[in-house]
Amino acid sequence: MNLSDCHNFQNFRELARRRLPRPIFHYIDGAADDEVTYRRNTQSFEQVDLVPNVLGGVADIDMSVTVFGRKLAMPLYCAPTALQRLFHHDGERAVARAAQKFGTMFGVSSLGTVSVEEIGSMIDTPKMFQFYFHKDRGLNDSMLERARSANFDVLALTVDTITGGNRERDKRTGFTSPPRLTPSSLLSFALHPRWALNYFTHPKFDLPHLSTHVREGSNVAMSIGDYFAKMLDQSMNWKDAEKLSAQWNGHFALKGVMSAADARRAVDIGCTGIMVSNHGGRQLDGSRAPFDQLAEIVDAVGDKIDVICEGGIQRGTHVVKALSLGAKACSGGRMYLYALAAAGQPGVERALEQYRSEIERAMKLMGVNSVSELNRGNLRFR
Ligand code: LAC
Repeated sequence: MNLSDCHNFQNFRELARRRLPRPIFHYIDGAADDEVTYRRNTQSFEQVDLVPNVLGGVADIDMSVTVFGRKLAMPLYCAPTALQRLFHHDGERAVARAAQKFGTMFGVSSLGTVSVEEIGSMIDTPKMFQFYFHKDRGLNDSMLERARSANFDVLALTVDTITGGNRERDKRTGFTSPPRLTPSSLLSFALHPRWALNYFTHPKFDLPHLSTHVREGSNVAMSIGDYFAKMLDQSMNWKDAEKLSAQWNGHFALKGVMSAADARRAVDIGCTGIMVSNHGGRQLDGSRAPFDQLAEIVDAVGDKIDVICEGGIQRGTHVVKALSLGAKACSGGRMYLYALAAAGQPGVERALEQYRSEIERAMKLMGVNSVSELNRGNLRFR
């Protein structure tokens, strides 16, 4: 199986599974507890059917959207995700370049493996920095100022990782950042010699936003669950978020809002957007799916801030359904991470091209010319 055999999310997932050492694949693929929420995130799109209209004259459709004051050529972007250098030796560089080619936004995580400075000088398309609020206030200030100097457009404060999710697959495989060399992980590396060769012959794994201040995650191996639980500040509250928003003084979002009440408070503290997200099912298992929560959140704040539907997206029609409910755009992690692991930049480009053409096809078959024509009349709940 190779890249030309990948026609959808599941094909990329399968190729990634073959290419990655077991602990690394399961870190991407896994979620919390029984992974009910992870599955639900995609299944929720199937509770709603599309009702197409015909004869719309759809020869030249426009799928661009404007979020956080910037135009995206397609209504789906690459959400920030951690540790990309483990999945492919080009890591964030590959995803950033692919996102730029498709004119869409790219997010860099605080736990990213390529610096905001490098990404900022590499691409001029919209960029988001995903901020994790640490106990170490010097680290927080440093990350914020670095993202600002690197001309990032949006600061997204992660609010759904106040403690570590129970990721049982990571416990079983012993996954840590950086990867710990144990007999079983070494065996898994040996069984994936191409990955191992690339991993060990490219510049050393680093978390450049964190390693200036803390050793955990880059020099001291730790699971991601433990990282969240030990390094992030569990006393973080609305005042802290408001202060951060004022300190950033630009487009500011809360990533991981699931209730309409929180969405309203986000507006009050000066957010210009929110990601309706449960962190890909990796935190609170049993949490509702973003798509299931979307309508009530859009009704509460959709006329004031940009509401992004994040998670579970595996098809262009999922994006069209979320936009019909009132999301301004959609985003996802696994939807490009398997492709990154499968084939680096060409893999991510192929995945984005598939989403782009699926969205285009779905819009044409729905009989709409632009995203603004999508509305709830297009949908029926079962
Ligand atoms: C995760 C974080 C790091 O593993 O986003 O879910």
